[in-house]
Amino acid sequence: MSDAGDDDIPQLSSHTLAALQEFYAEQNQHTDPCGEDKYNIGIIEENWQLSQFWYSQETALRLAQEAVDAAGEGGRIACVSAPSVYQKLRALHREHVSVYIFEFDKRFAMYGEEFIFYDYNHPLDLPEKVTAHSFDIVVADPPYLSEECLRKTSKTIKYLTRGKILLCTGATMEEQAAQLLGVRVCRFIPEHTRNLANEFRCYANYDSGLDCGT
Ligand SMILES: C[S@@+](CC[C@H](N)C(=O)[O-])C[C@H]1O[C@@H](n2cnc3c(N)ncnc32)[C@H](O)[C@@H]1O
Repeated sequence: MSDAGDDDIPQLSSHTLAALQEFYAEQNQHTDPCGEDKYNIGIIEENWQLSQFWYSQETALRLAQEAVDAAGEGGRIACVSAPSVYQKLRALHREHVSVYIFEFDKRFAMYGEEFIFYDYNHPLDLPEKVTAHSFDIVVADPPYLSEECLRKTSKTIKYLTRGKILLCTGATMEEQAAQLLGVRVCRFIPEHTRNLANEFRCYANYDSGLDCGT
């Protein structure tokens, strides 16, 4: 038995309702910090006291693509003090590679199991699950432009990598980077979301795609 008022209430079919629910679930994912948005560069604000200067979207994308190409299908990538590259890799290449973020800033612990707390002052103080030479490529951007910081970070890089190294640091560090890691400067110039006083460069110890074009 239906009352007369029911005819005035618009009814949605179960199919339409399901589609609507799917739409709202997807909308939530885009605004929910636990959804895909959590991999956006900038979701964690720069803290200059930690020497945090995020790459531009284009640079993070280019470095992430280079890391994937170098690591190969199913490869393992370590991002050492380079959270934007980690974020880009997780946002775009989830199925193709495994990625870990080695970071001092515990706000990045929001990435769960893939976050490894790392302080360059204790280069080999890493959890047991991080075994020697277990990454196809290490992408690193040490926090300070000093010989000491690069030397200590290099210890971590050499411990982690199976061979390939992609380093981003100041142009002034070229000679020391060559001595410590056997890397040479690439043609590609990394850019940041803000203009920095120091010039930055990328360095690699293999024939990288960063030598082609700009
Ligand atoms: C120059 S920024 C490089 C960030 C890179 N441009 C990016 O966008 O991913 C240096 C990084 O080192 C991290 N850092 C700061 N202090 C550190 C420490 N004691 N040990 C290791 N990493 C540290 C910062 O949190 C930051 O992510």
